[in-house]
Parts: sequence; structure tokens; C-alpha cells
Amino acid sequence: MFPKINFTQTQAFKDLTQHFGSLFGPYSNDLKELRQLFAEDPARFDRFSIAFEDILLDYSKNSITEETRALLVRLAEECGLAEAIEAMFSGERINVTENRPVLHTALRNQSDQPIYVDGQDVMPDVKRVLAQMRAFTENILSGQWKGYTGKEITDVVNIGIGGSDLGPVMVTEALKAYKTRLNVHFVSNVDGTHIAETLKAVDPETTLFLIASKTFTTQETMANAHTAKDWFLASGALEQDVAKHFAALSTNTQAVQSFGIDTQNMFEFWDWVGGRYSLWSAIGLSISLAIGFDRFEELLKGAYDADVHFKETSFESNIPVILALLGVWYNNFFQAESHAILPYDQYLHRFAAYFQQGDMESNGKYIDRNGEQVQYQTGPIIWGEPGTNGQHAFYQLIHQGTKLIPCDFIAPANSLNPIGNHHQLLLSNFFAQTEALMNGKTAEEVVAELKKAGKSDQDIEALKAYKVFSGNRPTNSILLKKMTPRTLGRLIAFYEHKIFVQGVIWNIYSFDQWGVELGKQLANQILPELSDDNTVSSHDSSTNGLINAYKAWRD
Ligand code: F6P
Repeated sequence: MFPKINFTQTQAFKDLTQHFGSLFGPYSNDLKELRQLFAEDPARFDRFSIAFEDILLDYSKNSITEETRALLVRLAEECGLAEAIEAMFSGERINVTENRPVLHTALRNQSDQPIYVDGQDVMPDVKRVLAQMRAFTENILSGQWKGYTGKEITDVVNIGIGGSDLGPVMVTEALKAYKTRLNVHFVSNVDGTHIAETLKAVDPETTLFLIASKTFTTQETMANAHTAKDWFLASGALEQDVAKHFAALSTNTQAVQSFGIDTQNMFEFWDWVGGRYSLWSAIGLSISLAIGFDRFEELLKGAYDADVHFKETSFESNIPVILALLGVWYNNFFQAESHAILPYDQYLHRFAAYFQQGDMESNGKYIDRNGEQVQYQTGPIIWGEPGTNGQHAFYQLIHQGTKLIPCDFIAPANSLNPIGNHHQLLLSNFFAQTEALMNGKTAEEVVAELKKAGKSDQDIEALKAYKVFSGNRPTNSILLKKMTPRTLGRLIAFYEHKIFVQGVIWNIYSFDQWGVELGKQLANQILPELSDDNTVSSHDSSTNGLINAYKAWRD
């Protein structure tokens, strides 16, 4: 059974509130700063780190003690996390508001265990589509598949948005080092610039379009798909040639057919796969084409490794559970508003963007599973950019701003591009930042430093306060051995499960996204109003004013 517990009513929450107040809160008499926690316990790293295969999570630089961890684990237990995990993996309809199971884990299930939805094992269908993806990928890569003029496919354009874009973009970027001969492009934005600029770079005779849309009704994707088809036909191709250049990744067979794509070229998935959890499904076809099917399969295997770890490991040694509980700790006790994801790996430059959707579309909710408005904070704002670039942009605020921003630092121990000492330069920054955030710099240290630099007492007095770093700013460090498809699969699945655990604790439904509907509905109402030059007066004065100004200015 999926629990519906208000976590603020649990005994663990009450104990945590007291514990927070006495050791970490603003009025604590016995404040435990990170620097001090490290000084008191030389084994702190061993106590607060978890190694799993080729991934090491060091969470020792967090404002926690062993008691904090024990209480957070108790919170998870009292919130029914074990039952919730079981409910998700076994195909219960835990996406209650859409009446669907949540089974992205079935897409990467490597065991021979069946997974049932309404009494039917979904695994044969999952395997059928994977086999179809393998055959298709091999066909394209080997050059056996020919375009309408007999040429091999050289370019793939994935047209999709949100979950039908961000996952494939993030993974193909992260695994660029494993690239096949195909150039894979992504078009998401309905801004005509996106498709126009992409089409400039490809040739209709050698391009394959993947129309990626779970619903096959999304306005942006359909507009871009039609534009791509018109462009293709305008090159002299005939309607019958569409079959050689268009494939669909979708759950909606009828809509695919009426768009004019042969269902032979349709790669199916199912309503129990959430859009933002769909890169493991047919939506991953662009990934398979970009890196080859074997590597796509490795990605699935990595995610499966993480699923097994999540399902079978005790909460205190469970990477996603610990990441989630730390997030709850900062979100609901320290009142942190955001969480930064900072990969020290250029290949992961879309990782934070991907989990912006993953996390914020999942846990940005204020109605709980009992239909009540929550009286506490739910999902944080997720943001981030790769290091070291971020250091020269927004880290100032993380170090000396007035906001507490818990951060995840992620880095591979081995570079896929070992050039000179670049990787050591990168990693020295990775290690330095979390140390600096934790330790800070005291007034005494600043004075000593300025004295050493020959500054006068007057200058030292004037500068001192600005150069002090309070430190005590929490971070997780995630060290990967090397960025491989399998490692990436593990990493992504850990973050997915972290989001799930937090949703369980906040007692919200993490797998719907009703909040994005209103804007879509209004856009559909406004669209016909833009088709003529008549003055619009049906909205508020701001919206009317903007629409009318646009009409006056447009060419
Ligand atoms: O706008 C939200 C959303 O529904 C996402 O959840 C989804 O990933 C995206 O739109 C795209 O949807 P589709 O795959 O159906 O085109």
C-alpha cells in the first residue's frame, strides 16, 4: 500500500525538530559547525560515505551527526518508505491522479522476474521494443537502411520536448566520447529558430527524424514535426518516402498514424512510463543511435544496478535514500530553498537541466496525498552548471551569500580526454571547493594572510570582514571512476530514486504534472486571437496590453 502520512506528525519529525534546535538551529547553545564536527571525529569520512561499484558518495561535509542520520532514517521508516518502494516496483497504481503504475524500473529490469500491470507481465513487451530498437539501430548504423535517394543516413534529428528531449540530450552529451558515426541533433523549442537552424545543418536525403512524444499531441513537438515533414517533402521527396525518414516514439498509435508515419516505424512505450522518466524507453532511440545499442543496454544495466541497490540496501547505506533525507533535512529544517547540482565534467553539462525537470516537475506540488494543502515546504529549486565555469559565475553567492545552498559536486576520477594536466587542474578545484565551503576562513586566518602580504593594520581592519568566509556550507561529493554508460545509468537512477523518496516523505504525488496544464490551455485560447489585427480585450489589462503591443509592432 502506498502510504499517506503527514511527515510533520511523526515522532521522528518531532525528535528531529528538537535535535535541529539543539545542535544546528539559530538559537542553539551547542552549535555544531562542520569544521568542529571534522575536528572532533577523524573517522568522519568513513562514517558518512558510501561506495557502490564505481561510485563513491561522500556526505560527511553535511551538517549532521550520527544521531541526525538515525533520526532521518526513522523518519523514512515512519513515513512508510519501505512499503512505498515495494508499491512502485510491484506496479501498484501509485500515480493516483492519473490512475497509472510507475514502472520506468521495468524498462531496465535485467532479472527474469515478471512485472505485472493488471495481471499481465509487461516484460515481453519491453523486450520486444528493445529488440526492435536494436535491429533498427544496427540497420541504420550499418548503412543497410537507405534514404529515399539510396544514400545512407548520416544525421538524426530528435524532435521532442520536456521528458522527450532532456533525457536524450543529457545522455548523448554525457556519452559523446562513445559516439557512433551519426550526428544526432535535438529540436525542442517551438521557436522556429530551433528547427530552422537545425535544418540548415542537415540534408533531407540523409536525415532521419525521430518524432518523440509520449502523447503525440504536444503543441511544440507537433509543430516542429510538421515543419520537418514539409521541409522534407519540399526537397522533392514524395509522401511514400516519409517512411524512410520518419519514425515515431510514442504511446499513441492512432496519432502516429494520422501524422502519416508507418506504424512499422513506431517504437512503442506505455502510459506507466512517466515522460521525465522515459529515457530508458523507446524515447531513448536517439541515444541508441548516438552511441550504439550495446552501450544503450549498458546504460539500462547501470540503472538496474541502482534499482537493486535502492530496493535491497538498508536505508542508512542506501545512496538515494541518504541523498533524499539530506535534502529533506535542509529543505524542512534549515529552510533551504534551492539545491545546486555541480558536475565537474563538461560531458555532464546538461545534467542539472535534466534534473530540473526530473525534480521540479515531480515534487513541485502543494497538495498532499490526502488532498490537503501542505503546511511545509516541498520540492526545492534545482539549478546548476558545470565546474569550473560556475566558480567564475555564481559561486560567490554560495560562499558568502545570505542563502544556504546545499550542493552536489560530481566528478569522474578519470577523464575521457586526458590532455596534459587538465584533469588534475579540474579535480583540484572539485576538492578545493567543498573544502572551502566547509571550512571557510576565520578572521584570524584572514589577518595572518593579510599581514603576510604586507598590508598595513589600517588596511587589514578595513578589509577583514569582507575576506572572512563563514564556511559551514554543506556539500555532497560524488566521485565516479570514469564516465561510462553503465556508470551514468547508475548515477541517473540514483537521482530518480532520490526524487521518489522525497515525494514519499512530503506526501505528494510525484508522477503527475497538472501544474503545467494551465499555461498550455491559455496558450491555446490566445493562439486564435493572434491570427488577425483586431484589438484584444478579453484578458486582464496587462495581457491585453502586451498582445496589442505585439500586434502593433509585428511586421
Ligand atoms: O509539459 C509537460 C510534459 O507533459 C512533460 O511532462 C513531458 O515530458 C512533456 O510535456 C512532453 O510530453 P510528450 O512526450 O507527450 O510530448
